[in-house]
Amino acid sequence: MMKKKIISVSVVAVFLVACGINNSSNSDQIGLRKASLENENKVFLVEANYTNLQPGESHRFERSYENAPPLIPHAIEDMLPITKDNNTCLSCHDKAIAKDVGATPLPASHYYDFRRNKNTGSNISDARFNCTQCHVPQSDAKPLIGNSFKPEFKNNKLKNHSNLIDVINEGVK
Ligand code: HEC
Ligand code: HEC
Repeated sequence: MMKKKIISVSVVAVFLVACGINNSSNSDQIGLRKASLENENKVFLVEANYTNLQPGESHRFERSYENAPPLIPHAIEDMLPITKDNNTCLSCHDKAIAKDVGATPLPASHYYDFRRNKNTGSNISDARFNCTQCHVPQSDAKPLIGNSFKPEFKNNKLKNHSNLIDVINEGVK
C-alpha cells in the first residue's frame, strides 16, 4: 500500500517537472509571449494592419486549401457588426446580386440546410448568416512561426473556386 503511494507521488512530480509548472521562466523560452507569465510589462499587441482597399479594388486570395472558406480581400470595417436586421455582406454576395457588382456569388452550400437536408431556395441558410464566423480578412502580421504547409488541389479551378456541395458526400456510403 505504502509503496504504491510513493510511486504515484513521484509520477506526479515527474509530470510537473515535465510540464514546467515548477519553473516559471520556461514561459520565456518556449512560449510565443517571450516574457514570464508573471510579468505584464513586456507584453505588447502585435503591430498589424488590415487592408484599406474597398470591394472592387482588392484582389482575391488563392484558397488556403481545397474548399477552404476564402479570405476576405477587401476592407470590412464599416460593415460590422453583422446583425439580424443588417447584413451588408449579402447586399453584394447574395447570388441574385453578386454578378452585377463583380463579387463572388455565395456558393450552393450556403443555400442548403444540412440539418434538414434541403435547399433553402433564394434565401441563405441561417447557419451561413454570420459570415465572419468563417471568413476572415488578412492582416500584414508576420507569422510567429514558419509554416511549410502546401495545399494540393485536384485541379487549377479549385484554387479560386469552391465546389463543396458537389463533393461533400465523397467517400460516404
Ligand atoms: C460593396 C459590395 C461588397 C460588400 C458589401 C462585401 N463584399 Fe466581399 N467582395 C466584393 C467584391 C467585388 C469582391 C471581389 C474582390 C474585389 O473586387 O475587391 C469580394 C470578395 C470577397 C471574398 C473573396 C471571394 C473569393 O472568391 O475569393 C470574400 C470571402 C468576401 N468578399 C466576403 C465578404 C464579407 C464577409 C462581407 C461582409 C463583412 C463582404 N464580403 C462585403 C464585394 C463586396
Ligand atoms: C459556417 C462557415 C461559413 C459561413 C458562416 C459562411 N461561409 Fe462562405 N464559405 C465557407 C466555406 C467552407 C466555403 C468553401 C466551400 C463551400 O463552397 O462551401 C465558403 C465559400 C464562400 C465563397 C466562395 C464561393 C465560390 O464559388 O468559390 C464566398 C464568396 C463566400 N463563402 C461568402 C460568404 C458570405 C458573404 C457569408 C455570409 C453571408 C458566408 N460566406 C458565410 C464557410 C462559411
